[in-house]
Amino acid sequence: MNVSIIGTGYVGLTTGTCLAFLGHQVTCVDADEQKVQALQAGKIPFFEPHLAELVDDVKANLTFTTQYADAIPQAQVVFIAVGTPPGHNGAPDLKYLEAAARGIGQYLAGEFVVVVNKSTVPIGSSNWVESIVRDAYEKRTGKKANGVFAMASNPEFLREGSAIFDSLYADRVVVGSDHQRTREVMYSLYRPLLEQTFKPPSYVPRPDRMGAIPLISADLASAELIKYAANAFLALKISYINEIGQLAEKVGADITQVARGIGLDARIGMRFLQAGIGWGGSCFGKDTAALVATAAEYGLDAPIVKAAREMNRRQRERVVEKLLDELKILKGRTVGLLGLAFKPDTDDLREAPALDIARKLIERGARVKAHDPVAMERFLEQYPDLDVTLCATPEAVAQDTDAVVLVTEWQQYRDLDWKSIKCTMRTPVLLDGRNVLDRGVLTRAGFRYVGLAG
Ligand code: UGA
Repeated sequence: MNVSIIGTGYVGLTTGTCLAFLGHQVTCVDADEQKVQALQAGKIPFFEPHLAELVDDVKANLTFTTQYADAIPQAQVVFIAVGTPPGHNGAPDLKYLEAAARGIGQYLAGEFVVVVNKSTVPIGSSNWVESIVRDAYEKRTGKKANGVFAMASNPEFLREGSAIFDSLYADRVVVGSDHQRTREVMYSLYRPLLEQTFKPPSYVPRPDRMGAIPLISADLASAELIKYAANAFLALKISYINEIGQLAEKVGADITQVARGIGLDARIGMRFLQAGIGWGGSCFGKDTAALVATAAEYGLDAPIVKAAREMNRRQRERVVEKLLDELKILKGRTVGLLGLAFKPDTDDLREAPALDIARKLIERGARVKAHDPVAMERFLEQYPDLDVTLCATPEAVAQDTDAVVLVTEWQQYRDLDWKSIKCTMRTPVLLDGRNVLDRGVLTRAGFRYVGLAG
């Protein structure tokens, strides 16, 4: 099929590339000329494992442009995958969504097109987007837009750092729409994915025993709510294990054992029970805020989601409190942060805990050094005013520091030679912000091991 994607961020570019991989002819549109030029030259504007390889493999099916005129008239399906950054009072800012809807309406050729919203949008936005596309089309052509297009909502569940795996081997595909014809188009589009009939890329193999992917066909509002409800649930699962972690610390229990002990109950599940600093990134914070804002519009309070947000905020404060407990005075001390990105395998710094922790430490008069395997360049670009000394290696971060905090659990930090690192530190305090290091090994190496949950 002929598919166009508006927006080449994580979601848009991954979706476009995966659809091209499934054999569709895909045109990606982005207003940013530099970004489009880079993509045309095969350069990916962010770090995402295997995406560059896949883009290269499917280049015959994938084109990039800044012009709606090159993308919309021939398309059978148009995806909107633009950013919806945080706006006022927790509600996301929809200006890019509005611009995309107008652009699509202005260039629809008149043949039936499915306009699919993939951006995470407040409930009811599909109706709103429909009215903008309709107005733009009718204004340009002077004709009624009936039968020219229909809306679908197709929320995205991929995680940064494993975007291609999550797209090709999704747990489910959710399609919201109010028309049978739209559902049929979406089914044809996703058929090779749903039935897993494609030959997997060698670098992202299909998991063993992978069956067909379930398609959830819902109405528009339900599909939109599924996205928020999923992210909020995952966010509160993390906050829940962090709440239990605080209690584990008081009673002398081991949160890793507790998480395993409850996670093996299939009704609870093992995933997203990793206690630690808590969540960051562009989704959980924004989406839980948006859910609370939507609930408020309808006179509801959403106390559980609010509590999950509060717990997440507290975890970051606790890092600084724990360092204060250990070092007694932070003024004039040097603290090393291992990891800047909000999680491993990405260079994304949006709502990254490291930023908050660095700010809080600097406010209290500490000096902060940091390392990240991929996010340091982006850090310099985006936070030039944050007074953090970047180091080329994790060993250099630890040198002459009073404490080291593991903020992002990159594999390379788990494998460090901690024993020799300890010898270069001023005081061997190690705060394991992700609960991934071996307390026994570190204690034996002479560290004062501090966890966030015991
Ligand atoms: C999240 C969801 O997992 C995706 O399903 C969704 O599509 C995406 O948001 C989105 O809405 O676009 P993402 O933010 O990329 O994906 O990353 P996650 O892997 O979910 O991690 C989020 C944060 O939670 C990270 O800071 C991670 O360190 C933290 N986390 C995760 C924990 O603290 N504990 C855990 O057990 C798991």
